[in-house]
Amino acid sequence: MIVKVLGSAAGGGLPQANCNCRNCADVRAGRPGLSPRTQSSLAVSGDGKQWLLLNASPDIRQQINATLELAPPPGSGMRASPIAAVALTNGDVDHVAGLLSLREGLSFTLYASKRVLEALAANSIFNVLSSRHVTRVALPLEERIAVGGGLAIEAYAVPGKVALYLEDASDGFGTREGDSIGLEISDRVTGAAFHYIPGCAAVDASLAARLHGARLVLFDGTLYTDEEMIAQGLSEKTGQRMGHISMSGAQGAKVGSMAAFATLGVERRIYVHINNSNPVLREGSPERAAVERAGWEIAYDGMEIRL
Ligand code: MLT
Ligand code: MN
Ligand code: ZN
Repeated sequence: MIVKVLGSAAGGGLPQANCNCRNCADVRAGRPGLSPRTQSSLAVSGDGKQWLLLNASPDIRQQINATLELAPPPGSGMRASPIAAVALTNGDVDHVAGLLSLREGLSFTLYASKRVLEALAANSIFNVLSSRHVTRVALPLEERIAVGGGLAIEAYAVPGKVALYLEDASDGFGTREGDSIGLEISDRVTGAAFHYIPGCAAVDASLAARLHGARLVLFDGTLYTDEEMIAQGLSEKTGQRMGHISMSGAQGAKVGSMAAFATLGVERRIYVHINNSNPVLREGSPERAAVERAGWEIAYDGMEIRL
């Protein structure tokens, strides 16, 4: 199984169009130690021919054009694509907006939770993905289903938050089961498997048990500290308010992902969906050193993993 990181950043990317934070300003100026990053997406294949995209980011056109494996195979007809399917982990704009760029008659299967499919169905702009070309399939929770290219997906609910544009005034902003899911992708031929969880508010007992001993987890790396966007004058929201666990933090309700994973025995841990405010993006920073000491890798665009 081949896993490619198409985009390693959170919503906005690095640099973000309207952002003057230190990371965005430095990467824009070409200063060393930071690389540009596109928004949150992976591509996975069992056979190297048919590909499954995990999330469809607003940068999908750039990501496809940067990835030779996703180009129309020469001699395959006037309209062709190795992209056979797309699976979504939530309905956030940075994970669904790219669907609109797949509208040019590309045929694929779209997998998402029932909740996220309902959100797409309620937004008539997604009707550009006509049912003649795109089959929408609800991912059952905690049940492995076969998808194309020799792969299987098992979806499971994770602590999180409903998409920003669907928030209401109720407790938890109207979040319900299925608004945020994790995906275990497995190769039906070799049995190799990994977990992809780009949005997660907490590692609860059920998630910890599920991930225990996993070979590879690509996990929510949005923020280093819960209040970093407030501290940098970028936003009034904490990570918890946005539905994202932080990397750091050792105690109580604010236990971070480094601490939460410390005893899980996960062989390889990679942060994805990294916000441009996050100091780990800067090579040589103390925060980068801390996550590396804790056994984590920082995903980058174009990163390839073979399982
Ligand atoms: C998130 O990851 O919290 C969302 O992408 C935020 C957003 O929709 O802008
Ligand atoms: Mn996001
Ligand atoms: Zn920024």
